[in-house]
Amino acid sequence: MAMLTVRGLRKYFGDVKAVNNVDLDVEDGEMLCLLGPSGCGKTTLLMTLSGFITPDEGSIAMDGVDVTHLPPEKRPTSLVFQNYALFPHLTVFENVAFGLRAKKIPRPEIQARVEEMLGIVDLEGKGGRSINQLSGGQQQRVALARALVMKPKVLLLDEPLSNLDAKLRIETRQQIRKIQQSVGITSIFVTHDQEEALTMADRIAVMKNGRIEQFAKPRDIYHHPSNSFVADFIGKTNFLRGWSDAENNIYKLLSGKEILVDDFTCEDTNDRPEEVLIIRPEYLSTCPQGKCPPDVDNCLEAIVKEVTFLGELTMYVVDIGIDGLLHLTTYGYIQQYEVGDRVNVYWNKSVGQVITC
Ligand SMILES: Nc1ncnc2c1ncn2[C@@H]1O[C@H](COP(=O)(O)OP(=O)(O)O)[C@@H](O)[C@H]1O
Ligand SMILES: [Mg+2]
Repeated sequence: MAMLTVRGLRKYFGDVKAVNNVDLDVEDGEMLCLLGPSGCGKTTLLMTLSGFITPDEGSIAMDGVDVTHLPPEKRPTSLVFQNYALFPHLTVFENVAFGLRAKKIPRPEIQARVEEMLGIVDLEGKGGRSINQLSGGQQQRVALARALVMKPKVLLLDEPLSNLDAKLRIETRQQIRKIQQSVGITSIFVTHDQEEALTMADRIAVMKNGRIEQFAKPRDIYHHPSNSFVADFIGKTNFLRGWSDAENNIYKLLSGKEILVDDFTCEDTNDRPEEVLIIRPEYLSTCPQGKCPPDVDNCLEAIVKEVTFLGELTMYVVDIGIDGLLHLTTYGYIQQYEVGDRVNVYWNKSVGQVITC
C-alpha cells in the first residue's frame, strides 16, 4: 500500500517553479531518494511534505489521510537536516528525548523509548555524552534517533550526509540504510549525489526544474534512463546524434553509418523532440583495427585520443570522425592501447538505447 501519495503538487516562488506538478507514490517501508542538481526543488518538495511550506496546488496523503492542510506538528513526519540541528548544550539523551518531553510523554516511557532508539542507532551507553564529544557521523545518528523516536510514518532527510567527509559519508549512508530497513520506516532521502542515491534507494525520483524526470528503481534509472538529462546526470554516457528508423531497428549517425539498436524508448510520433543514441562507456569494447569479432552488431573505426590508467580500469577517449568522440572503460588486464593507435570500437545492439533529448 502507498504510505505517501502526492498529486499535482506545485509551489512557485514568483517565476521560479520550485515544485512543478509532482506526483509520487511511495510504498510502506520504502526508501525513496529525491535526486537532482542544486536548485531543482528537492528541499522545497520535502518542506511541502513536512508542512513547513504550503503548496500552491495539489494534495498530499499519508497512510490514507489527507494532510495537505495540516500544520507540521499534526503530520506523521520527522525531519533530519544536513546540519543536524542538535542542541549543543543538551546531552545525547536529552536531544533524543526533546520531542517526547514536548509531547508530555510519561518519564518511564521516555526513558525506555530513548534507550531503545540509542541502541538502534548504535549509540548505546552514550546517552550521557555531550554533543561536542561525538564525531560528525555519531551526531547525525543522534539526529536520526531524535527523528525516529517520535515514531513518524514518514521520515524526511534533507542531504543528511553533506557535512561529512567522503569516507564517513559512505560509512554513515550504510548505517542509515540499515537502520531504515530494520525499523521499516518509509523514508524520503534528498541528495544531489548519484552514488548515494544508487546505493541507498529502493527507488529514485530524478528531479530537474521542479519536475520529476524519472521515477524508477536504481538499476532501471541507470540502464534505461528515460531521457538525456537522466542519462547524463547518472553515470557517464556517450551521446551519438542521428536519426532513428525504429521499424528497422536502425539509427543512422551523422556520418551516414547505420547502427543496429534494440531499444527505442522514444515514441515514433511527428511531434517528438530530438532523439539521441546513448551507450554507457563500459558496454563498448575495443580491438586492433580490422579485428572486430565477426558476429558483433556494430563496429566503428576509431583513433585513440586519450588514455587514463586507473589501476583496476582504464578509460579511453577515441575519435570516430564526424560522429565525435566516444568514452570507453575497460576493466582488468586486457590489451592496452596508446594515444594514436588505430582501433575498432564494437558493441551489440542490446546495449545501445535511443532516447528523447
Ligand atoms: N523561499 C524562497 N524564495 C524564493 N525562491 C526560493 C525559495 N526557496 C527556494 N527558492 C528557489 O526555488 C528553487 C528550488 O530550491 P530548492 O528547493 O532549495 O532546491 P534544492 O533543494 O534542489 O537545491 C531554487 O531556484 C531556489 O532559488
Ligand atoms: Mg536543498
